[in-house]
Amino acid sequence: MNFWANKNISLIVSGGIAAYRACDLIRIFRKDGAKVSVVTTKSALEFVTELSFQALSGEHVNSDLFSPIQADGMDHIHQTKTSDLMVIAPATANLIAKMAMGLADDLATATILAYDGPKLVAPAMNSRMWLNPATQRNVAQLKQDGVQFIDPQSGSLACGEDGEGRLAPIEHIVEAAQSALSKKILAGHRILITAGPTHEALDPVRYISNHSSGKMGLSICRAALYAGAEVVLIHGPINLEPPPGAELHPVTSAQEMYDQSMAAWEAGCSGAILTAAVGDFRPVQQKSDKIKKNSDSDKLTMELTVNPDILATLAAKKSGGVVVGFAAETGKSLERGREKMARKNCDLLVINDLMEPGSGFATDTNRVTLLHNSGKEEPWPLLSKDKVAEKLIQTIATLLNGVKQNG
Ligand code: C5P
Repeated sequence: MNFWANKNISLIVSGGIAAYRACDLIRIFRKDGAKVSVVTTKSALEFVTELSFQALSGEHVNSDLFSPIQADGMDHIHQTKTSDLMVIAPATANLIAKMAMGLADDLATATILAYDGPKLVAPAMNSRMWLNPATQRNVAQLKQDGVQFIDPQSGSLACGEDGEGRLAPIEHIVEAAQSALSKKILAGHRILITAGPTHEALDPVRYISNHSSGKMGLSICRAALYAGAEVVLIHGPINLEPPPGAELHPVTSAQEMYDQSMAAWEAGCSGAILTAAVGDFRPVQQKSDKIKKNSDSDKLTMELTVNPDILATLAAKKSGGVVVGFAAETGKSLERGREKMARKNCDLLVINDLMEPGSGFATDTNRVTLLHNSGKEEPWPLLSKDKVAEKLIQTIATLLNGVKQNG
């Protein structure tokens, strides 16, 4: 089931120019199955009409503490009882100040004050308002009270100035909301993840690579962050944006990925999830000049050598923790997976057959079988890569609870 299905989100919109971006937030949450109840400040309705919020959320929108539409004048109390999460986006300096003081002089602030569940605040304002010591003091106070923030970004602002104060990207707010609702089953764990392809240079302009998009690895990275892990992401050349919050190590070749992985593992990680499609071979000699066509021959012979195996090396040198590999196969996947497990001796191997419908490099879904070192096999149905990642993180958390730490 989708993470957001049956979740209730209470969205508080305050009156800045970024109020229009709350429309996208409602759309995304609803598309993924959540119910969104919107409460706005009066000034938010100067930017976006009640009707827009109503049409997008499919719910009656409240802004008035004394509205006769409310059944008993207690909507702000009723609504908060059923909410899983309160998202305050955009949050103006004024609203943040009122929250820090515990004021409740309109429906938005009364609803916030009456809510005792998790709160996520996404501020948006002019950079001088954001950097003003009063605002920073209020933010620090709220953070101390347990309110989570997704800080604004730098860029050009609606007022024409450049600086810090732009509302965080909507996708980041959605990710932060999912993180706020996720159980921190990997808290205190540092997890190494490899993702994407590698490029093995032939000469300064050409390389050998594969079709890996890095999607599966990034989904796992996101799920590990949601679960409260510290994540070291070592990724080859990819066109996708890694999630915010991971420690990023971009690399190009298999050798670089190997070196960075060993350094990260030795610096202290309790888990490694190696999803990268690492190039198995590299040219023995990388030419310093572009290889020219030879008019006397229609063949080019090049000697290749095997790259070091990150998974097998980590599995062999570990003194604790959990090492997980991926086996992308094109047929006889279980048989080859079992053989790979025997060779690499990791704790868990995630086998997937690239030829199966819905599985493959750039798809959003995957059908995998988990092969445990004990020989236990778990076939999973066709799932989104995000769902595979979430379930895999749960499995790894269970395994980590039963083993001693590495090092
Ligand atoms: O041997 P094969 O490449 O099929 O094994 C796949 C698994 O091994 C993946 O987890 C991949 O990230 C890992 N691997 C590695 N280093 C290599 C080759 C593969 O870590 N040089």
